[in-house]
Amino acid sequence: MSEPILIDGKAIAASVRAEITARAARLVRETGRRPGLAVVLVGEDPASEVYVRNKDKAAEACGFHSVKHTLPATTSQAELVALVARLNDDADIHGILVQLPLPDHIDASTVLRLIRPDKDVDGFHPVNVGLLTAGERASALVPCTPAGSLVLLKRTLPGPLAGLEAVVIGRSNIVGKPMASLLLAESCTVTIAHSRTRDLPAVVRRADIVVAAVGRPQMVRGDWIKPGTTVIDVGINRIPAPDRGAGATRLVGDVAFDEARTRAGAITPVPGGVGPMTIAMLMANTLTAARRQLG
Ligand code: GUN
Repeated sequence: MSEPILIDGKAIAASVRAEITARAARLVRETGRRPGLAVVLVGEDPASEVYVRNKDKAAEACGFHSVKHTLPATTSQAELVALVARLNDDADIHGILVQLPLPDHIDASTVLRLIRPDKDVDGFHPVNVGLLTAGERASALVPCTPAGSLVLLKRTLPGPLAGLEAVVIGRSNIVGKPMASLLLAESCTVTIAHSRTRDLPAVVRRADIVVAAVGRPQMVRGDWIKPGTTVIDVGINRIPAPDRGAGATRLVGDVAFDEARTRAGAITPVPGGVGPMTIAMLMANTLTAARRQLG
């Protein structure tokens, strides 16, 4: 096999963000208003703090109005609901993101359902889930990670996706299910595999497109990959790396990259593949939400 195409998520995300920056500037010229994004973080999860900081920075860099609400872990559900209600009514805020996970005493699904669907830039509200599933993607706000994965596929594959065999590994509401809906809308033949799938290697070997989103380090082995397949690795897992010194760690995906790269036609690295696309698509959703709200 020749060397696979390494899908450069960082470069593609940068080009998406540049385009959004230009479109946001046009919105300002036309309406005098900037897209506004509010990100809400409850508690002190270190990984969430990094994500929220990056989202805030990206929004500023795109020329958005960006507001960060950092609340203590002791915040009650009623207080969080009151903040969401305030943001729903704030005309300067077009997108609201409540960072997950929330502390155990708060019911995430109750809070997410109270976000106005047209401000739901995560695409987690049942109205947006329903629109995507019903094939009305153009009216929905689509979850950022699968939307970004689709952009990577479209920029990598030379032809249309229609008719290709796509296997999505993982059935989460955040990635697996919306990814399957997006691929179905592209007329792929879609299989959703999961922890109870029988003979997962045989299912994956059928695929022209593999999207791995299970959260298990290097679970997808190289010999599961049909030669020439395009592999999108959504996993971000931290594992021990004793070769780098005592206590050192490194990030790996859900795909055994060194094995898979010998067979794949194109593959995303971890880090630097899907990860940067998620924030770029959050910016895209915020701009879309602002455009719709500003008429
Ligand atoms: N935590 C991990 N991923 C996400 C995401 O895409 N959106 C939100 N709101 N929280 C997350």
